[in-house]
Amino acid sequence: MPGLTAPSDYSREPPRHPCLKINSKEPFNAEPPRSALACSYITPSDFFYKRNHGPIPIVEDIERYSVKISGLVENPKQLFMKDIRMLPKYNVTVTLQCAGNRRTAMSKTRTVKGVGWDVSAIGNAVWGGAKLCDVLELVGIPKLTSSTQFGGKHVEFVSVDKCKEEKGGPYKASIPLSQATNPEADVLLAYEMNAETLNRDHGYPLRVVVPGVIGARSVKWLEDINIIEEECQGFFMQKDYKMFPPSVNWDNINWSTRRPQMDFPVQCAICSLEDVSTIKLGKVKISGYAASGGGRGIERVDISVDGGKSWIEASRCQKSSVQYVADGSNSDKWAWVLFEVTTDIHQSTEIIAKAIDSAANIQPEKVEDIWNLRGILNTSWHRVKVQAGHSNL
Ligand code: MTE
Repeated sequence: MPGLTAPSDYSREPPRHPCLKINSKEPFNAEPPRSALACSYITPSDFFYKRNHGPIPIVEDIERYSVKISGLVENPKQLFMKDIRMLPKYNVTVTLQCAGNRRTAMSKTRTVKGVGWDVSAIGNAVWGGAKLCDVLELVGIPKLTSSTQFGGKHVEFVSVDKCKEEKGGPYKASIPLSQATNPEADVLLAYEMNAETLNRDHGYPLRVVVPGVIGARSVKWLEDINIIEEECQGFFMQKDYKMFPPSVNWDNINWSTRRPQMDFPVQCAICSLEDVSTIKLGKVKISGYAASGGGRGIERVDISVDGGKSWIEASRCQKSSVQYVADGSNSDKWAWVLFEVTTDIHQSTEIIAKAIDSAANIQPEKVEDIWNLRGILNTSWHRVKVQAGHSNL
């Protein structure tokens, strides 16, 4: 394995910030406290959620590290970091969200299978690297190609980590070639996160970042890129991260009936309050994040402080210097918005947040209606309860 090794145990894991809430230790899965998450538009790498399926790979010798691009292409190639760094560098602000974000809340209606997450399996970072479309040109695939002359229609990303779901094999995923070769889709091979070298937890030395798509397709510790005819047949594409209706259970599931989930739907969560908070009655600040997939902006975030009888609109912001306009040319297309509203609360109540994206997609009201056995894509209205007390929140 040139340059990159995959340990088979967890004895060489990197150091992590002590404030992270650990949802599973081995493999390491952790999220920041929600109050810390919505403090800044750009999520510091230390606080960015970490979602792993095996031990974190190690780079023994960065000079020897390379990515092999092969399959249904004319000129297969082995690229070293210097070859990738030679291509134009782009910094793209992208929100990554795990499909399992808010799974714990979904599991409260009916048990689901998977690591439990609160509302912080999401983060927004500036990813720096080469565009995949430029990399693919090096092996003879022009921009805006949906099929190579040899019939390649999908781009598979393969890592080295040892995942038990893959029976000890590596994590892998694919995206359509048309997306990979579209410069406007901004798919990156990233070597930087927030202007620093990518750290081990987030994919050092090189990871894929697929904007607007569930985090599962943004493969970390990239080793191989294969141009293939059909989408990747790996576990995480075919037997996981698919959205089933509430009627499907572990006895009647037929995985082949559903497509792998790609874009994530419109989502929002209140981060300034826990599920149950004690507050001082009077003016209360309600803030959090809202995001949608596929490059769709956030048109509105509605807040109710009377359990859904009436709604007020929250303000939305990305960068303090620029007014946010959903899908506007000065807004970060692939990034979340932070929302905020300050309103009077006179009694113990339930506060609700729901977002609407630029295609007028709206979050579903009830978690029961979107319950699925793997507990993915819980985008139901986010609810928190506040009780009158002496806290000064
Ligand atoms: N890539 C590899 N090689 N192994 C993994 O376990 N997890 C995926 C994706 N890429 C994973 C991976 C999932 S499910 C998510 S949500 C994101 O990485 C999480 O990225 P992060 O840990 O940088 O937040």
